Amino acid sequence: MKLLKRILKWAGIVILVLVVVSGLFLFVSYWQSSNDCDRDIAVPAHPMKAIRKCEYGSLTLRTVEKPIPTDDQVLIKVRAASLNAADGHLLRGSFVMRPLTGMRKPKDSRFGIDCAGTVEAVGKNVTQFKPGDEVFGAANGAIAEYVCAPERTLVTKPDNVTFEQAGSVAVAGLTALQGLRNQGNIQPGQKVLVNGASGGVGTFAVQIAKAFGAEVTAVCSPRNLEQARSIGADHVIDYTKEDFTVGDQRYDMIFDNVGNHTIAERRRVLAPNGVCVLAGMGSAGKHEGQWSRLAGNLKSFFVSPFISQKFKFFIAKVLKVDLGVLRDLMQEGKLTPVIDREYPMSKTAEALDYLEEGHARGKIVIKIE
Ligand SMILES: NC(=O)c1ccc[n+]([C@@H]2O[C@H](COP(=O)([O-])OP(=O)(O)OC[C@H]3O[C@@H](n4cnc5c(N)ncnc54)[C@H](OP(=O)(O)O)[C@@H]3O)[C@@H](O)[C@H]2O)c1
Repeated sequence: MKLLKRILKWAGIVILVLVVVSGLFLFVSYWQSSNDCDRDIAVPAHPMKAIRKCEYGSLTLRTVEKPIPTDDQVLIKVRAASLNAADGHLLRGSFVMRPLTGMRKPKDSRFGIDCAGTVEAVGKNVTQFKPGDEVFGAANGAIAEYVCAPERTLVTKPDNVTFEQAGSVAVAGLTALQGLRNQGNIQPGQKVLVNGASGGVGTFAVQIAKAFGAEVTAVCSPRNLEQARSIGADHVIDYTKEDFTVGDQRYDMIFDNVGNHTIAERRRVLAPNGVCVLAGMGSAGKHEGQWSRLAGNLKSFFVSPFISQKFKFFIAKVLKVDLGVLRDLMQEGKLTPVIDREYPMSKTAEALDYLEEGHARGKIVIKIE
C-alpha cells in the first residue's frame, strides 16, 4: 500500500513537471515566434512587390527585397499565380499546426504556391532552364513579382495555354492526376464519378479522367451542369435534385472532393472492387460539416482494409514528372484549365474571400502585372 502511494505521488510530480515545462516551452515559443516581416529593411536595394502573411489571418501587399536564386534554384518573373484551399488554412494557421508553422506569427510569411512566368536567372547547378524560358509549377511565395523555385518543381509551359491557365495548374492538377491514377488506378472504360466537379480540383479531375478514357459522371450544382458537360463529362448530376448514392448506377471509382456521404452510402454505388478516392472535404474555406466529413474520411480510411471496396486518402505531392504529364495533356489539347476569375495582386485578400465562399467555378487566378 505504501509502495503504491509512493508510485502515485511520484507519477503525479512527474506529470506536473511535464505540464509546467511544456507550458513554459509553448509560452516562450509563442512570444519568440517572428518572421521575415520583422526583419524587412525599410528601403530594399532591389525592390519588388509581394503578398505577405505577416500575421495569422491577414494578407498585405509589401515592397520587399527581390529574392536571389541559390545554386540549385531558378528565379522566375511571375506572370500568374492561383489560390488553393490550403492557402486559406495556412493563412489562418490552425492551433494544431502552429507548432510547425509558427506559434504567434507564421514562420514563413510568403504566400501562394501555383505559378507561371518567365525564367529571369538560374543558379549554377541548374541545367534544364535558361533565362527567357516560360515555365509553370510550384514555388513557395508565388504571389509576388519574382519567386525562386528548385528546377524539380517546374516544367516548361506549353505554347497553347496562357500564363493564367498554366499558373492555375500545379496543386489542383496534381491532386486530380495523382488521385485518379495513383490512388484510383484509373483504366479506360471505367465508370468514374467526380463528386464536387465544378471547383478547382473537380474541373481538372473531370478532364483528366476523360483523357484516361473513363466514362465520367460529374456531380455539381445546377448552375455548373453546363460547364461540366463542356469540359467532357458524359453524365451530370445536380446534387440539389438527385442524390448519387441512391441510384442504380455502379461506379468503379468515386473521386470525392466533398465527402458528404457516409461509407455505407458510397459503398452502395461502388462496384464490388471499386475505389473511393478521398480527395477533399468540400469547398475551400470553413464550412458547416467539415469536422463530420473529416471524421467520416478517417473512419472510412480505417474501415477500408477490412472490405473489398477501398477508400483511399492521400495528399498530393509536387513531382516534376507529374507536372510533365499535365503539360503534355495541355499540349495535346486534352486538358484546358478552367478559370473562374482573375484578380490583380493587390486584391489577393478579396480573391481568397471569394474562393472561400465555396462556389468557385474552376480556378481563381492572381495576375501579376
Ligand atoms: N488531397 C489533397 O492533396 C488536396 C489538394 C488540394 C485540395 N484538396 C481538397 O479538395 C477539396 C476541393 O478543393 P477545390 O480546390 O476543388 O475547392 P473549390 O475550388 O472550393 O471547389 C469546391 C467545389 O465543391 C463543390 N461542392 C460544394 N458542396 C458540394 C456538394 N454537396 N456536392 C457536390 N459539389 C459540392 C462546389 O461547387 P458548387 O458551387 O456547385 O456547390 C465547389 O465548386 C477541398 O476540400 C480541398 O481542401 C485536397
